[in-house]
Amino acid sequence: MTATRGLEGVVATTSSISSIIDDTLTYVGYNIDDLAENASFEEVIYLLWHGQLPTAGQLNELKEQLAKDAAVPQEVLNQFKTFPINKVHPMAAIRTAVSSLGLFDEEADVMEKDANYRKAVRLQAKLPTLVTAFARIRKGLEPIAPKRDLGFAANFLYMLTGEEPKDIAVEAFNKALVLHADHELNASTFTARVCVATLSDVYSGVTAAIGALKGPLHGGANEQVMKMLTEIGSVENVDSYIHEKLNNKEKIMGFGHRVYRKGDPRAKHLREMSEKLTKLTGESHFYEMSTKIENIVTSEKGLPPNVDFYSASVYHSLGIDHDLFTPIFAVSRVSGWLAHILEQYENNRLIRPRADYTGPGMQTYVPVEKRG
Ligand code: MLT
Repeated sequence: MTATRGLEGVVATTSSISSIIDDTLTYVGYNIDDLAENASFEEVIYLLWHGQLPTAGQLNELKEQLAKDAAVPQEVLNQFKTFPINKVHPMAAIRTAVSSLGLFDEEADVMEKDANYRKAVRLQAKLPTLVTAFARIRKGLEPIAPKRDLGFAANFLYMLTGEEPKDIAVEAFNKALVLHADHELNASTFTARVCVATLSDVYSGVTAAIGALKGPLHGGANEQVMKMLTEIGSVENVDSYIHEKLNNKEKIMGFGHRVYRKGDPRAKHLREMSEKLTKLTGESHFYEMSTKIENIVTSEKGLPPNVDFYSASVYHSLGIDHDLFTPIFAVSRVSGWLAHILEQYENNRLIRPRADYTGPGMQTYVPVEKRG
């Protein structure tokens, strides 16, 4: 038995949800470029869960169900107040809150297909409420209930700030949600599938996935990109900062990808939004710094930017706290996790690979008092 480090190139399952072939990303056969330009996030959720785009009636039904399920038990919101709220990372708080949500769902352990679908809708609906409520509670503000007449993207921004967002903000945020919704067998999606393949429940699968997304080598990278842009501070400093990192063989966050070779097709949409939004906010230097970093890293290391790189300046331009960037990734990606969880249940087999053992050979037990 020989191990494949990081399971690189290993095909671990079949799936009909999303594919990456020759650097083209599709959701159920729809090119991500097409969806990013045209689809609402709610349509994408439906597509991922049902394998087809919704009719107007189906879309309305999903929107109504999401609106109905958006409220979070007060006990879970109260729990936030018991956390060391100004020290804890929002991803850790949301991970814990999603686990708690399962305690209040009477169907949590009902494994019938319809019950699992209902839980998927509930989780998708409640994630924005959790993230925005946490963001407000830690600032001493009251959570805000969603508005029935706003779509998913607009509602998130409304619940975060208490103000109805401008069209350009809704457009950018919707696009970011669409672009982050699913990504084949990335680490958090694989984690979700491994978890529920034991026939554990949907809440456990999503909790595990949030834990995996939290890491800086996965979803946590977008926050690190913003940290880097803030540290660099101005376009003039880019050259020396990036070259020092490259000379020290340090990782530049937001570049390269395990699967893409020529580049991540999602990045160009976020680059465009970043240019537009930073101009509007009078912070074009974040966009200019980003493109300069991209030029250096791409020409000197051959690494193109990935989805995390320009999403950082997009979210920053929308006035979002930097440590909420990864929770926002989760608000979108939960749609993909749930699609994969439902698919895993449909054709389940326990995921149990082998390890190539590299420890000592056979040893004989020596009682503790005789060990030197
Ligand atoms: C993602 O969208 O999950 C990231 O690009 C990471 C990945 O696919 O490995």
